[in-house]
Amino acid sequence: MTTQILVVDDVPAMAEQYAYDLKRVGKYEVIVAASGEEALDLLGREPVDCVVLDLEMPGTDGFGVLRGMQQRRIETPVIVYTGAGSYDRCVQAVRLGAYGFVDKAEPIERVVQEIENAVSRGRMVKELQSLRARFDVETSLIGDSPPMRNLRAAIARVAPIPSSVLVVGESGSGKELVVRELHRLGPGAKNPLVAVNSAALPEQLVESELFGHERGAFTGADRLRRGAFETAANGTLFLDEIGELPPPAQAKLLRVLEDRQVTRLGGSRAIAVTARVVAATNRDLEEEAAAGRFRQDLYYRLNVHTLRVPALRERLSDIPVLVDHLLRSIAARLGVRPKTITPEALALLAAYDWRKNNVRELRNCLERMMIASDAAVIDVSTVPPDFQAEERDEASDPAAAPGTLKAMKAQAERQIVLAALEKHGWQVTRTAEALGLADHSSLLKIMRRHHLSKGAHRDP
Ligand SMILES: Nc1ncnc2c1ncn2[C@@H]1O[C@H](COP(=O)(O)OP(=O)(O)OP(=O)(O)O)[C@@H](O)[C@H]1O
Ligand SMILES: [Mg+2]
Repeated sequence: MTTQILVVDDVPAMAEQYAYDLKRVGKYEVIVAASGEEALDLLGREPVDCVVLDLEMPGTDGFGVLRGMQQRRIETPVIVYTGAGSYDRCVQAVRLGAYGFVDKAEPIERVVQEIENAVSRGRMVKELQSLRARFDVETSLIGDSPPMRNLRAAIARVAPIPSSVLVVGESGSGKELVVRELHRLGPGAKNPLVAVNSAALPEQLVESELFGHERGAFTGADRLRRGAFETAANGTLFLDEIGELPPPAQAKLLRVLEDRQVTRLGGSRAIAVTARVVAATNRDLEEEAAAGRFRQDLYYRLNVHTLRVPALRERLSDIPVLVDHLLRSIAARLGVRPKTITPEALALLAAYDWRKNNVRELRNCLERMMIASDAAVIDVSTVPPDFQAEERDEASDPAAAPGTLKAMKAQAERQIVLAALEKHGWQVTRTAEALGLADHSSLLKIMRRHHLSKGAHRDP
């Protein structure tokens, strides 16, 4: 990859000399601008890695260019130069965002050195930005359906309170995202969020993992280890898959939550617990407790507040925004250009029976579609067969062959009607009105055709 440098100087001979010297170094492409205006114009159009900028120019001078770059949020690093050896002006330029400065009298090697530093820093800044953007994309809770709105409101209510929270929901429904959001909105957001997967821990290690151990506490404990409760100090301790916690550890955890203090294995000093505890599970803990597989008392300790994450089938109207978001998030992770999806393919996905599957499956399906074809637009032909199969027998017209306009229309109809029903709390008259139907019986007819009913739909 060659590095493109823009040299800006109103004296053509000066600019050409710089361009000539820089090109001779062998790794730069150089373009020149003869005025501040031209420089800004070029910066808006050309991929420039570094600007070498004269401060003294008629019209828009070097300072003007720096200001213009700030306004336009152009973050290309700039090295300014001045002939007068006026240090003050250079300092002023640095305040305006210039990366460094050189004197016109200095040898080209010095200029190259400055350019190299500036370019590598510029690349780091860009990388950091894209990482941050990716993090934001991957951790935002998407969806504006009534169940998601309720969930968001519940998160906002509970986040500032230090009591334990239990997050329940089916596998892949977004429990982890909810926990991150709780942490982000809580008072300990600047402190650590420590996650412990109870299911992945060997039984013998659960306690030392959670509570820590002193050196020599047991064979193999050759050094002190802080437990998750300690490392999550003033932050959040996330106990994932809490339903899988072995009974002895359940008993110890209960003690810790009651006493608000931990003692490391083999230790005697009590350490105050300052972390907020959030537990998640896809099991029905109440049922588990009734069956004697989970301690009832621990269950009551944990579920001071319960947040239920809705399954995808309860919020089908979120599918379009989720798809859009997930496509971008997957593209960012794979480092490829984001793709769009045709309305027909989207309708096909929305019409899929999401009875057992959740956002994770939707994400996986989209990832498969993203890499299955080179086209920039994902269409019906790319939707994996297993995401079409169940939909077929639900199409309004059984005679319509899948992929035909008729079948696609039916799918779209189902999606639109379902979204409207969800939006209006399944109130048939209001939904019919919103959809511009003649009366509520027309809506009922459509609902029957698509096997849509609140109860059956929600609780298959
Ligand atoms: N509302 C949402 N907005 C955006 N992405 C979501 C949403 N819900 C889930 N996801 C995505 O779906 C995937 C699964 O979510 P997550 O890991 O939070 O599920 P989970 O409930 O913790 O599942 P498990 O029970 O298997 O641990 C993740 O990639 C997550 O980013
Ligand atoms: Mg999870």
